[in-house]
Amino acid sequence: MLHFPRRILLVIGGGIAAYKAAELVRLIRREGADVTCVLTEAGTRFVTPLTLAALSENPVHTTLWDLKNEVEMGHIRLSREADLVVVCPATADLMARMAAGMADDLATTLLLATDKPVMAAPAMNVRMWQHEATIANVAALRARGVTVMEPDEGAMACGEFGPGRLPEPEAIMAAIRARFGAARALAGKHVLITAGPTHEPIDPVRYIANRSSGKQGFALAAAAAEAGAQVTLIAGPVALPTPPGVCRVDVETAREMAEAVDAALPCDVAIMVAAVADWRVADAAGQKRKKDGTGRIAPLELVENPDILAGLGHAVLKPRLLIGFAAETEHVIAHAEAKLARKGADWIIANDVSGDVMGGADNTVHIVTAAGVDSLPRMPKAEVARAIIAKVADALS
Ligand code: C5P
Repeated sequence: MLHFPRRILLVIGGGIAAYKAAELVRLIRREGADVTCVLTEAGTRFVTPLTLAALSENPVHTTLWDLKNEVEMGHIRLSREADLVVVCPATADLMARMAAGMADDLATTLLLATDKPVMAAPAMNVRMWQHEATIANVAALRARGVTVMEPDEGAMACGEFGPGRLPEPEAIMAAIRARFGAARALAGKHVLITAGPTHEPIDPVRYIANRSSGKQGFALAAAAAEAGAQVTLIAGPVALPTPPGVCRVDVETAREMAEAVDAALPCDVAIMVAAVADWRVADAAGQKRKKDGTGRIAPLELVENPDILAGLGHAVLKPRLLIGFAAETEHVIAHAEAKLARKGADWIIANDVSGDVMGGADNTVHIVTAAGVDSLPRMPKAEVARAIIAKVADALS
């Protein structure tokens, strides 16, 4: 039972592969876990509630409008009682409705109401899988933290060939183990993350800033919390929601960020993702600066901000694992290697920000350590975050 959820909510969509969900129920039960099945209306056309009730030894839910079930087990509770929600098969239609945030039947209502990790095992015709609409829906779900498995490739029930077949139930079990194992990997660890830009005031209405959106740092905070860590997220000015289970401290300037980091110590892991402004205005004006009519601009005198990462790298309370980011527009890896030593960090995660990374949804990162460089493919920031957090958990174990 180690690394396997105790309770699974299994949402079964309407596709020919739905019959394999019955086998999945059997495998989950064999693992000693409890499974409750929810069928979409279309799902009931492919597999019967009776089959699933017999295999799961639990009532099967099919509708929002079942008064008896609603009294005994409200749909919100149903969505929260599980440790993990698995959608299998995840049809094109069901994923489209999930991506759109619809709640027009019991399955989608549960998926919208749950606060638990969600996994989806897709199954559909190859052209449907490769359609731009499905690609966008899968990307949106992954960006929101849903683990969408890659479908298998092969001959399909419709006679075509290609990716779109439901992964085998054994492979889905392995994915559940991996997803849930990851959910415990950082239990008991304090992870400190900085994210977003800083704003350095020029006067009460103007400031120096940069294009950092905070998305990668927030995704890391979400992934660390998902992995069971206690997470402190020190956020510069960004308009992003706080990930569930994360303790957030909002700051404006580099100096406030440095103080907030100090106050949050000690920690086991620190990941400094924030694009901290290197300089601040030496003497920010108390009142709005005005044109003086001469046509000349009064120069701004800049002074250097504290380097929070380097400060931690040389601090008494240096975390066990100290990770910095290096946003570069050229010589990405060489600059990261130089930064490793200079900042006293254990890893530098280098990313090339010459394209649309800042503010964008995807990222390509290279994890630079004393042992070498591990380059990850371009992925949604949520996936990059999970990969980094998995590597962090490995390093600590
Ligand atoms: O020196 P550079 O800005 O390229 O280094 C980037 C890394 O250092 C990031 O991890 C960033 O969060 C951190 N940093 C910092 N304090 C600064 C400047 C950068 O913590 N003042």
